[in-house]
Amino acid sequence: MSLRNSLRPPRVGTARSRATRMLGIRGKLFVTSLALTLGVVAASFVVLELGLSDYLRERMSLSPAQIADVLERTRYFLILVGVAGIGIAFLMSALASFWASRELVALVQSAAGIGLGSIRRFEESSTDEISALAGSFNRLSERLERSVAELARERDRFGAILSHMAEAVIALDTSDRVQLANRAAVDLLEVGWVEPGQPVLELVRAPAFAELLPRVREHGRASAELSVGKTASRQVIARAASLGERGIVIVMLDVTEMRRLEAVRRDFVANVSHELRTPISIIRANAETLLDGALTDPERGPGFAHAIVRSSERLGRIVADLLDLSRIEAGSVSLTRRPLVLAEVVGRVVDSLQLQARARAMTLTHDVPEELEPICDEGALEQVLTNLVENALKYTPEGGHVHVVAAAEDGHVRLDVSDDGPGIEARHRQRIFERFYRVDPGRSRDMGGTGLGLSIVKHLLEELGGSIEVLDNEPQGSVFRVRLPRHVS
Ligand SMILES: Nc1ncnc2c1ncn2[C@@H]1O[C@H](COP(=O)(O)OP(=O)(O)OP(=O)(O)O)[C@@H](O)[C@H]1O
Ligand SMILES: [Mg+2]
Repeated sequence: MSLRNSLRPPRVGTARSRATRMLGIRGKLFVTSLALTLGVVAASFVVLELGLSDYLRERMSLSPAQIADVLERTRYFLILVGVAGIGIAFLMSALASFWASRELVALVQSAAGIGLGSIRRFEESSTDEISALAGSFNRLSERLERSVAELARERDRFGAILSHMAEAVIALDTSDRVQLANRAAVDLLEVGWVEPGQPVLELVRAPAFAELLPRVREHGRASAELSVGKTASRQVIARAASLGERGIVIVMLDVTEMRRLEAVRRDFVANVSHELRTPISIIRANAETLLDGALTDPERGPGFAHAIVRSSERLGRIVADLLDLSRIEAGSVSLTRRPLVLAEVVGRVVDSLQLQARARAMTLTHDVPEELEPICDEGALEQVLTNLVENALKYTPEGGHVHVVAAAEDGHVRLDVSDDGPGIEARHRQRIFERFYRVDPGRSRDMGGTGLGLSIVKHLLEELGGSIEVLDNEPQGSVFRVRLPRHVS
């Protein structure tokens, strides 16, 4: 017998059994008592009609008038008995059904309660069949309760795992409608919420995704890389598995950051190669010229040699800056954070760059309150300041002004290095902190710049718990704003 057949409810098809079921306990008792009473009364009538008059005439020697009177009285008596019997049957059925059905009704109510979700114990008061039924019922409901609790625990555990997963999970039915989507999926797809039953192709519109679904059905498993989100800004790897008649489950892994880092690494390698190629080719060309005879030329010879020295210095600077950067990024630079008197550090850096400023007829001033104490590494702060002031001196035309000013701000010290140079256009502002990014590459290179200065500054400040941003200076120029944690004594 198949499982399906074994689960089929018993057949209850005949009209009689249907009628019997419809009567209920009360009705059955009433009908039984009534039938019994009427049966007795009917039998009495038959006996009365068939035998009693002959018996009275033959054995008791009564006159016909007396016999008629006795029969008449007996009939009345039987009718009375019949009516009383009906009354008693009614009463008995009411009483019996009240006793018998009280516990059954409670059982029925409990069972109905289970259907509505409440599970309660039935009292096993006596030892009769109903009580045995109640016992089975209680055991059944306890088992049901345990199963329901276990299922609820399973569901909660499953729900908690799903909602805390970093990967997006989407379950589809066989017609590609969403049955379930976890929090990560909603966030990744940037849809706000997912309606159960919503076609998944409304949520993920990438053509690669539409191609993925038939492939999963065909091969059981398939994966694809696609762009999702409102502006298709998130890059994901979607892995789908077919669950046969239960649909498809898809797991999406956000690889946006990974792909961005891969692009940064590719760009970085390309940039480093490009930066190194220029001085190396200069060195090579000048060395070849020297070897070709310029070595003995007292007029042109030193010029080629100087070019080689300049380019090798540049190579040295690039390598040193790159090493600095990678050490800062790897966290292998030992930084000692302690409260520093900012005015002293700024004074020292500004003094060391005054000569450079004067050489370009520039004014370099500072205004830092004595009491300001950022928590920072002294060497790192000097390096940051030197980079920023050197940039300001380098990129501001001759005769310009560079000013260093500081103030307390919330739990921070704010340090501004401002100039009245050409300023930096908004489109370059975020990018100038990237490695090798320059607004005017040719000009910066001519000035000996590697394009790594601001990148080193940013990384150092991040390591020190600070930050940097660039703003417009009024009426012209730029302001490099540094924030450092402030020491409060
Ligand atoms: N004060 C400033 N005014 C205008 N442009 C600036 C200023 N500071 C930086 N820049 C722009 O930002 C770019 C990046 O600066 P960064 O200090 O990183 O590199 P660099 O000065 O070219 O080289 P390096 O500092 O490594 O010698 C510069 O090439 C320049 O175009
Ligand atoms: Mg610089």
